[in-house]
Amino acid sequence: MAPSWIFTILLLLLGSVAGDCECGYSTTTGSDDTRHVFTDLHETDFIHVDVTGDGKGGASHGWAPQGYNISSQASRGPFGESFAVRNVMSNTIKSPNTFDGPGTLGLDAGLLLLVRNVKEEDRVSVAEISTTGLDYFYGTFRAGIKTTDAPGTCSAFFWYQNDTQEIDIEFLSAEFDKAKGIFPVNFVLQSEEAAAAGYNAANTTGLRRVNLPFDPSTGFHEYRFDFLHDKVSFYADGELLVEATGSGVPTTPGHLLLSHWSNGNPGWSQGPPTVDAVTTVSYVKTYFNSSLEQRQRDFALRCKDPTASGAVCAIPHHNATFFFSNGDNLTPNQTDYGGPDNGEPVDGGGKGDGDGENGAGVLVAQIWAFWLTMVIILYASF
Ligand SMILES: *[C@@H]1O[C@H](CO)[C@@H](O)[C@H](O)[C@H]1NC(C)=O
Ligand SMILES: *[C@@H]1O[C@H](CO)[C@@H](O)[C@H](O)[C@H]1NC(C)=O
Ligand SMILES: *[C@@H]1O[C@H](CO)[C@@H](O)[C@H](O)[C@H]1NC(C)=O
Ligand SMILES: *[C@@H]1O[C@H](CO)[C@@H](O)[C@H](O)[C@H]1NC(C)=O
Ligand SMILES: *[C@@H]1O[C@H](CO)[C@@H](O)[C@H](O)[C@H]1NC(C)=O
Ligand SMILES: *[C@@H]1O[C@H](CO)[C@@H](O)[C@H](O)[C@H]1NC(C)=O
Repeated sequence: MAPSWIFTILLLLLGSVAGDCECGYSTTTGSDDTRHVFTDLHETDFIHVDVTGDGKGGASHGWAPQGYNISSQASRGPFGESFAVRNVMSNTIKSPNTFDGPGTLGLDAGLLLLVRNVKEEDRVSVAEISTTGLDYFYGTFRAGIKTTDAPGTCSAFFWYQNDTQEIDIEFLSAEFDKAKGIFPVNFVLQSEEAAAAGYNAANTTGLRRVNLPFDPSTGFHEYRFDFLHDKVSFYADGELLVEATGSGVPTTPGHLLLSHWSNGNPGWSQGPPTVDAVTTVSYVKTYFNSSLEQRQRDFALRCKDPTASGAVCAIPHHNATFFFSNGDNLTPNQTDYGGPDNGEPVDGGGKGDGDGENGAGVLVAQIWAFWLTMVIILYASF
């Protein structure tokens, strides 16, 4: 008869290859600190991953740089805006283990969003990038951002369905006052009320302006919003700053965007800036429930027992360098947004492993564990 320690080892072996996070990713949120689970993830490490594809607006890693022109009338300011794909630039670090310092362009590494100092006709040349997925329905959305310090732009991290279903984090660089140490961030729910106010967020109760305890233009900080059915909670560096409830909370799925723009509106972005203004994004991490039936079916199939050890993974509260997608087996059956595509595979740090590798890795581990188990059982029974 095999001694019990052998069974303990077997359990550990089998447990360790059973897969992790198959029942989702959890976080506590809001002033009541309740725990919620989200089924899907989309993490992008802009310091190491180029999402600009062919530079002509092609989508990559679940992101698409935007190219479109809008008139001053549509932009609701004295100037129109030209959202140009070339204003979205990937400035990656080749070394897989480095997380700060300059990228290949000599500026901070990350995704650069530019507002140009030169106008095209009467349009300001600005930047925007969107997720290709439109199925982000409830979730915790986090971005590492260092804003421009050039006055006259709006840097935005937002979730959007339409003009009355929208969650915004917006930085107005003209509001920064370095001498007085005043650095406001604007948290906005665009709602029917905002529509009634002519989409002037400054006039709605959906706007909460909070002074940050740091200068957002001198370093990267994590900005986050958690979207649940009855409230949206806004954070900076893991600190809850504001909670919004009521009719402004969106009721549909949407997509996630980052933008950097100016239309000269004296009541909001001001500007346009007198220099090329750069806002840099180091990462976006989203843990969300998908509104796609296919994703929901996949979840139901892979999540056998949510109470099993490791079935639900806790999202680190605030850790810029942690990505589940860098782990070997922490993103089972998730949509594969791929690993770094800097032209060649990177070594070390696990960075080179796209999610696509995981399937084969798991299989190999399972075969190994199976044979090891057989050997131990045979050995133990003699
Ligand atoms: C997300 O979906 C899972 C699976 O359906 C569900 O258990 C969970 O409560 C959902 N989370 C939220 C915040 O609605
Ligand atoms: C925007 O307008 C400029 C001319 O001012 C033009 O060159 C550019 O192609 C337009 N962009 C798009 C996406 O239509
Ligand atoms: C936005 O979507 C919601 C829900 O589908 C809808 O009720 C609302 O009318 C839409 N608003 C606009 C401005 O299209
Ligand atoms: C918004 O408020 C400003 C003053 O703060 C006012 O001049 C403007 O008319 C208001 N706009 C709307 C659409 O209510
Ligand atoms: C953050 O994550 C990294 C990468 O997994 C890890 O090495 C580091 O210890 C974590 N930091 C904290 C404070 O947990
Ligand atoms: C998840 O698993 C299902 C069933 O095995 C499969 O049909 C689906 O393509 C997988 N999805 C992803 C994103 O890997």
